[in-house]
Amino acid sequence: MRKPYIYGNWKMNLSAAESADLISSLLAIKIDFNKVDVGVAPDFCSLKKVAETVHAMDYPVSVAAQNISVEEKGAFTGEVSAAMVASAGADTVILGHSERRTIYGETDKVINEKVKTALRNKLDVILCVGETLEEREGGVAVERVIYQVGLCLQDIKMDRIDRVTLAYEPVWAIVTGKTATPADAEEIHGKIRDHLSKMYGPVVAKKVRILYGGSVKPDNISALMMRENIDGALVGGASLDVASFVKLINFNG
Ligand code: 13P
Repeated sequence: MRKPYIYGNWKMNLSAAESADLISSLLAIKIDFNKVDVGVAPDFCSLKKVAETVHAMDYPVSVAAQNISVEEKGAFTGEVSAAMVASAGADTVILGHSERRTIYGETDKVINEKVKTALRNKLDVILCVGETLEEREGGVAVERVIYQVGLCLQDIKMDRIDRVTLAYEPVWAIVTGKTATPADAEEIHGKIRDHLSKMYGPVVAKKVRILYGGSVKPDNISALMMRENIDGALVGGASLDVASFVKLINFNG
């Protein structure tokens, strides 16, 4: 039985003061951490403050960076390394997000290198995959997603895969208000798990959590979470408001 995992990706939306307020408001609300795992991904500037707030209250809330450099260290102006985000208090990093792929041209190869860099630096990984609208309409959604999973996890050994969470985020459903139907999402999640089973064997594949992301809201999360292979949600917009974030965390009442 995989524990549900609800993760807020705050993207580039909040000031440092707003991020600090949001995490404080969230932690002031009673959450049953026996039933659900929770995480937040603030921007780089807010990361340390958010991580300090979480650690000071001693809550088991994961804190992620939204990206890292593929490089370890050196003359890479504007980049932020895995070690830097870890030293700011992050335990996780989101990699392969479609906004990184489509707007900043990150390829599966680069994402694979970043996954290795993250794991080497003791960061857990939320690895995002997902097809575009053209790919879905062209009938190649499954192939595209499986291809991404295979390439992004290339050379990631069995003993490290337990530190990776997958997130299926169909590009056409992000920020658009369109959500994949629970049946559509379940189909892809099932195929991802089948592929993980081919790569790592059925025992390991059964343990890996696969989150769904793309316009998840309090009114659609329950139907998604009822599906066998949907283990949680990676949420953008609806995680920016404490009331709706808490409703997502308490999706099962
Ligand atoms: P929205 O929930 O705003 O559609 O964003 C989804 C997402 O990209 C999470 O990483």
